[in-house]
Amino acid sequence: MNKKVDPANGLNGTIKLPPDKSISHRSVMFASLHEGQSVIRNFSAAADPHSTIECMRGLGVTIHEDNSTVEVEGVGREGLQAPQGDLDCGNSGTTMRLLSGIIAGAGVSARLVGDESLSARTMKRIIDPLTEMGAEINAREDDFAPLEISRPRPIKPLHFPLPIPSAQLKSCVLLAGLFGNEQTEVIETLSSRDHTERLLSLTIEEKDGQKHIYSSQKDDIPEQTYRIPNDFSAAAFWLVAGAIHSNAEITLPNVGMNPTRFGALDILKRMGADVTVSNEHDEGAEPVADLSIVSSALQPVNITEEIVPNCIDEIPILMIAMLYADGVSRVSGAEELRHKETDRLSAMAEVLERAGADFTEHEDGFEIKGNHDFVPESTSFKSYHDHRIAMSAAILSLMGDQSSQILHAECTAISYPSFWDDLLLLTN
Ligand code: S3P
Repeated sequence: MNKKVDPANGLNGTIKLPPDKSISHRSVMFASLHEGQSVIRNFSAAADPHSTIECMRGLGVTIHEDNSTVEVEGVGREGLQAPQGDLDCGNSGTTMRLLSGIIAGAGVSARLVGDESLSARTMKRIIDPLTEMGAEINAREDDFAPLEISRPRPIKPLHFPLPIPSAQLKSCVLLAGLFGNEQTEVIETLSSRDHTERLLSLTIEEKDGQKHIYSSQKDDIPEQTYRIPNDFSAAAFWLVAGAIHSNAEITLPNVGMNPTRFGALDILKRMGADVTVSNEHDEGAEPVADLSIVSSALQPVNITEEIVPNCIDEIPILMIAMLYADGVSRVSGAEELRHKETDRLSAMAEVLERAGADFTEHEDGFEIKGNHDFVPESTSFKSYHDHRIAMSAAILSLMGDQSSQILHAECTAISYPSFWDDLLLLTN
């Protein structure tokens, strides 16, 4: 499906954002490992968290869905069953990587498959530590899905300094560690999203500027009854749209404000974005607030390696903000973007190229020369079937002087099923 996006005269309104995708995945996995019922409210309707629900059902967990409320009859750590067929993780890296940790830990045998994009993403980063912990994993070319996982021996604890600042890798190892007699220790130098640690109340020690995170069989797995905040990563699209458009006022209620997630908010503020944060409070283990944005005059900014894990999913849309900042902005240390649903650096290079932007692509980032009255030239943008590329190109298209087409626009349903409706709501 292609989507036509018309230039916007204004962007005004209040958006009910989709629930947080990362927390939705974890809530249903951890509720399954808790012994007893959990009730999760405001669960995401997006495709990725539903891949997780189907996989947990495949492992023998009963899960009821009623609109955005999900009830999980948790079976406890010992209760997972070997699935009858493949566990289909769809497009979701979080499902495949976190579930691999659970399956290896639980010692059930399972085969995990994914779509074309997920089957092309490296799994070596999780295969190596899980193998050290005692799992046997057969992977295509030792690296890619399908993954056949079994664990003939008890799980061994691991002392694991993270080689890359990835929350999926961190969570995978900690989840396998939950099944070990002795403590597994993951050491993190650059903080990545910490939803796993918060929702499982894991022990964390700060030493020499590093976080040491522990998990073992002795950790209780808490009931996962709470309301999931709305997704900051989805909010970022409208924060940028509001900042770059000359006639905008957008309100975004109940947005997750986890400090390991809102790097993009800090960056936009540094750029001069006129954002207001109000009604700050906690929902369960996560901080939440209402955000609003109005048209802003943006300054250039540098995004460097240490902040990349806190805005990893927002870099494509931040690059659109950079196009509207008067001067040269830079992104470096972001090579990891080449390993997402698509190679997001080269996909964004194509979007910028087609838009007629002044930019240079590097192996680990970009240099972008922006100006506040930039008008994109192109009338058609490829999404590469990647939700975040499609949505970034759509926001850019709002700034054109003629209609544009976004190709394979249905991929937005991976994280944000109501994106196109929300776009219409703001422009009408
Ligand atoms: C996620 C972690 C990030 C992020 C992904 C969701 C998670 O991946 O890009 O969209 O829920 O843990 P990495 O941790 O591999 O960078």
